[in-house]
Amino acid sequence: METMYLLLLSTLISPLILYLIFAVTLRPRPVNIPVRDRHVFISGGSSGIGIALAYQAVLQGARVSILARNIAKLEEARDSIRRSTGVDVGIYSADVRDIVAVKRAVDEAGEIDVLICNHGVFYAEELDLQDSETVKFMVDVNLVGTLNLIKAALPAMKNRKNRGPGSIALVSSQAGQVYNKKRPKMTRIIVAQSSVMKAEKVAKITLKGIQSGTFLIHCNFQGLLLSLGSAGSAPQRSPLMAVVGIAAAVAISIITRVFQYRLYGSLERWGAQKKKLAKT
Ligand SMILES: NC(=O)c1ccc[n+]([C@@H]2O[C@H](COP(=O)([O-])OP(=O)(O)OC[C@H]3O[C@@H](n4cnc5c(N)ncnc54)[C@H](OP(=O)(O)O)[C@@H]3O)[C@@H](O)[C@H]2O)c1
Repeated sequence: METMYLLLLSTLISPLILYLIFAVTLRPRPVNIPVRDRHVFISGGSSGIGIALAYQAVLQGARVSILARNIAKLEEARDSIRRSTGVDVGIYSADVRDIVAVKRAVDEAGEIDVLICNHGVFYAEELDLQDSETVKFMVDVNLVGTLNLIKAALPAMKNRKNRGPGSIALVSSQAGQVYNKKRPKMTRIIVAQSSVMKAEKVAKITLKGIQSGTFLIHCNFQGLLLSLGSAGSAPQRSPLMAVVGIAAAVAISIITRVFQYRLYGSLERWGAQKKKLAKT
């Protein structure tokens, strides 16, 4: 009986001890990234999540610049934000793959406090069916384009004086569950395992996460599980979440297996269906 009490006590006390240790030792320390009166630069800001982010940042008093390729879409985005807020955002036309054009746009926009690399292209098709040009195009825009943006903005961001902490945020995909665009069957099966979210909601959560200096910002429960389960050695600013990450590791792993069981079950059924169709 005594052993049981001891076991129970240590189960209750260990998270508390861990919390206290993390509260003192966690690095980097928690930080707030204000956006009011600061310059927020958003790539891919002419549509979807990007324009929703621009709108949210304007509402919070930021000076906002948006970058994309199509100037007509940029002007339309600026007009729509002006119509609903009365505020003008700066618009910059550049292809993120073109480092010279990106550097010119960033320099023209002026010192950036918060850089949100949100642009992205995605051709939803199985890799073996995609031609190499398409794969290269996605890598060039999504990966090289992001590095180009950061490279262009970083020197001036590092040299900012008395402007408080800056931030660079990368928007990427959990499983492409925001809109129901045209997708191949496999992508639809994956997306069906998750909930659909509106760009405005994603933008609000993202901006809040940036402002609280969060490293992995998740938008729904599955995202939380993914962030906790796949964070590896990603920095964690909250002692509470650091403890939750440790305490819930086993549970998260089990829940992830359940999700995977359902997902792979659906994919197997689809594979069998495809084979059957090919035979007939
Ligand atoms: N939608 C989803 O289901 C979903 C889910 C999870 C994560 N995400 C991520 O969220 C981000 C935004 O997605 P979204 O669906 O809101 O995008 P979207 O509506 O398709 O808009 C993409 C934006 O990126 C710009 N862009 C595309 N290629 C560019 C290039 N080479 N250079 C400069 N700008 C470029 C586009 O403007 P131009 O075409 O005029 O250049 C547009 O402003 C992406 O990083 C995406 O991976 C999306």
